[in-house]
Amino acid sequence: MLVSASCTTNNKAPSSEGTPYNAKVDSLMNLMTLQEKIGQTVMYSGGWSVTGPTVSSNNKKFIKEGAVGAMLNVYSVKGTRELQRLAVEETRLGIPLLFGYDVIHGFKTIFPINLGLAASWDLEDIEKGSRIAAEEASAEGIHWTFAPMVDIARDPRWGRISEGAGEDVYLGSEIAKAYVKGFQGDDLSKHNTILACAKHFVGYGAAQAGRDYHTVNMGYDELRNVYLPPFKAAVDVGVETFMTAFNEVNGVPATGNKFIFRDVLRDEWGFKGFVVTDYTAINELVEHGFAEDEKHATELAIKAGIDQDMMSSANRLYLEALVNEGKVDVKLIDDACRRILLAKYKLGLFEDPYRYCDEQREKEMVYKPEFLEAARQTAAMCSVLLKNEDKALPLDKNETIALIGPLARDKENILGNWAAAGDRKGRAISVYQGIQEYLSDSKIVFAKGCNIEGEDQSGFDQAIKAARKADKVVMVMGEDYDMSGEAASRTNIKLPGRQTDLIKAIRKAVPNKAIILVLMNGRPLDLSEEDTLADAILETWFPGTSGGYGVADVLFGAYNPSGKLPVTFPRTLGQIPIYYNMKNTGRPIPPDDPKEDYKSNYIDVPNTPLYPFGHGLSYTTFEYGNLELSGETIGMSDTLTASVTVTNTGDYDGHEVVQLYIHDKVGSITRPVKELKGFKKIFLEKGQSKRVSFELSPKDLEFYNNEAFVIEPGAFEIAIKGTSDFDFEHSFNLE
Ligand code: GLC
Repeated sequence: MLVSASCTTNNKAPSSEGTPYNAKVDSLMNLMTLQEKIGQTVMYSGGWSVTGPTVSSNNKKFIKEGAVGAMLNVYSVKGTRELQRLAVEETRLGIPLLFGYDVIHGFKTIFPINLGLAASWDLEDIEKGSRIAAEEASAEGIHWTFAPMVDIARDPRWGRISEGAGEDVYLGSEIAKAYVKGFQGDDLSKHNTILACAKHFVGYGAAQAGRDYHTVNMGYDELRNVYLPPFKAAVDVGVETFMTAFNEVNGVPATGNKFIFRDVLRDEWGFKGFVVTDYTAINELVEHGFAEDEKHATELAIKAGIDQDMMSSANRLYLEALVNEGKVDVKLIDDACRRILLAKYKLGLFEDPYRYCDEQREKEMVYKPEFLEAARQTAAMCSVLLKNEDKALPLDKNETIALIGPLARDKENILGNWAAAGDRKGRAISVYQGIQEYLSDSKIVFAKGCNIEGEDQSGFDQAIKAARKADKVVMVMGEDYDMSGEAASRTNIKLPGRQTDLIKAIRKAVPNKAIILVLMNGRPLDLSEEDTLADAILETWFPGTSGGYGVADVLFGAYNPSGKLPVTFPRTLGQIPIYYNMKNTGRPIPPDDPKEDYKSNYIDVPNTPLYPFGHGLSYTTFEYGNLELSGETIGMSDTLTASVTVTNTGDYDGHEVVQLYIHDKVGSITRPVKELKGFKKIFLEKGQSKRVSFELSPKDLEFYNNEAFVIEPGAFEIAIKGTSDFDFEHSFNLE
C-alpha cells in the first residue's frame, strides 16, 4: 500500500505569499488602528436583493467610520461608486470597499441554473458562461462573486441541490475548477475579473432529511472522499475566497470549526486567501448551542480561522473587547485584515478604487448580443433527453402543436433561483417565443391548463380542446423558481399542484398523440407517473434568459440534445439517498435473481433509479466498441491507457459525453461500486467513428481510508460508456 503524499506534505495552492503587495499591505497595516483592522473584517448588506434575514445597520455611517471592509447586494456603477466614495474620500486611510454579490449562474444575462450547467458536462462552456457573468458583474461595480457553490448533493429534497454540480465528486471537482477559472480569469488586476468564492465549506449538501441548514454528520472517509475534494480542486486553481457553511460538521458548526478551516484548508491545502462567513453565521453559533452568546461566538469564529463576518455585526461589536480582555490575540485580527487587504490589492483597488465604476463599460457589457446568444447555446447544451419513444422528438415544422402548461409562456420562473440581477419582468425568452421561431402562430395552439401550484382544474377543458386540434402535444411544466434554492426544501418531489392530473387528462383525451413533457425544475423529481404518460421527456432545468430559444432549438432538432444527468432521478422519494456510486453491501441483489430473499432490497420498488447518473439520450445513437487497455497490470509508477471506439450509428450528427468508470474491488475500506474518473465530450457526424482514450494513473485511484490517503494494489474493473448504467466487462491489476 502506498501512503500518498497527500496526507504528509502540503499540496500547496498557488501561494499568494510573496505577492508584490506584501510590503504595501504591511506598510498600510502599520498605519491602521485596531478598530480600522477590525473594520476590514466586517461585511454589511445593501439590502438590494435580500438573500437572508436582514440585520438593520446604518451602512453609510459605519463605512465613514472605517468600520466596514465589504458590502454585498449592492451593484451598478452609481450604487457602488456612491459607497466607494465614502470609504475612499471620507475615512482616515481611504481603504476601498469590496463589493460582493451572488453571481451564481449569470449576472443579468442569466444562464441555466448550476445543476443544469453541470448537465452539459462541458467544462469549456461552463468556464465561458462564468467569464461572461464576470464581464457583466464587473461592469456594474462587482469585485467578488459568492460562487461557485461546490457542495456535493445527493438528496433532491434539499432545495440547494439546484445550485451545485450534483452527486459526483469527480464531475463536481472538474466543474469547480471551470467556474473559478471563468470568474477569476488569468489576471485579477484586470477590471473584468472578479474574486471567486468556494462555498459552503463544508458538507452543506449532506443536511439530514434534505432539510436546509440541518445537521451534518458523516464519517471522515465520506468527508474526505466525497465532500472535501471539490473544494480542494478550487484551491488548486487559485480560488481567492471561501465561505463557511451554515451547518455543523460532526458536532462543530462550520463557522467555528478549526479542523476544517485551519487544519485542512490552511495547513493541509495551503490556502492563502480569505474566508467569509455565510449570512449571520457567527451569531448562529449561539443557536447551534456552540457559543454562550454572540461575543463568545465572535471569539470562536476568529480562532477557527474565519476572516470576515457577513452581517452578524459580531466582529464590529465584540472583537476589540475580546482583544482588550486578552481572549483574542491581536495577531488573529492582523492575519484576517492582511488577507482581505491583499485581495483588494490584487484587484487593483488601491491603484484605482473606481476601476469597476465605468458608465461606458456598464452600457456596453450588459446583455451584449453575444452573451445572450451564448446563453441560448448553453440552454440547449444543458437539456437532457430523458425519454424519447417512437421518435416523438424532434418536432416537425409542418406539424401543429398544442403548447400546454403553466411554464409554457413563463418569463419569470425560467431564470431559476439565485438569478442575481436578472430581469424577471419580461426580458427572458419563453418556450412559446422560442417555438415561434420555428412555427407560425397558426401552428401553435396554446392553453395554460393549470397553475404550477393549487387545485384549480378549470383550465383542463381548454387544454384538452387544444390537444385535440394538434398533431403533437408539448407540455411545459415543473416547479416555481422559489421551490428550490435556499430555504426551499420539499418533502414531496413530485410535480406540484395538478400538473400530473393535467397530463393524465390529456393522455386520456388523445391516447394516440405524442405527448412531449418539457420540465423546468431545480431538483430531481419523482417522474414515475409522468414516465408512463409521456412519449418524450426533456429536462431543461431552469434554462435562463435565452432559455426559450435554447429549448426550442432542441425540440426542433437544431441542436441534438447531449446533456447527461449530473444527479440521479429516483423512482420514489422512499429511495433517497440514491446515487450511482453507492457501496455494494454484504447482501447485494444478485443480478440474475432480484427477488432472492434476505438481500439488500425493498419489497415494494426496485433498487434502481428511474433515470441514472450520466444518463441522457440523443436523437442519434452511439455504439461503444470493445475497450482496449494498454496492459492487464500496471505498477505504482505506471499509467494505464484505456481506449474505445465510439460510432454514431444513427441519423443525426451529435455530441456524446464519453465517461470512464472504475471499480476498486477490494480496499482497506469498502469502495463504491462505480467511480467516474474521466469524461470527454466528443462530436460525431452520423456514421463517423472516433477513438477515445483516457489515461489513468495510480494517483487517480487514491482514497482516504480513515487513517491516511492510500493507493492500494489489487484488482480494478474498468468501463467506458455513455451512462453509469452498465455492468463491467473488463478489469486490470495494480501491483
Ligand atoms: C445566503 C447563502 C449564500 C449567499 C449569501 C449571500 O444565505 O447561504 O450562499 O452567498 O447568503 O447572499
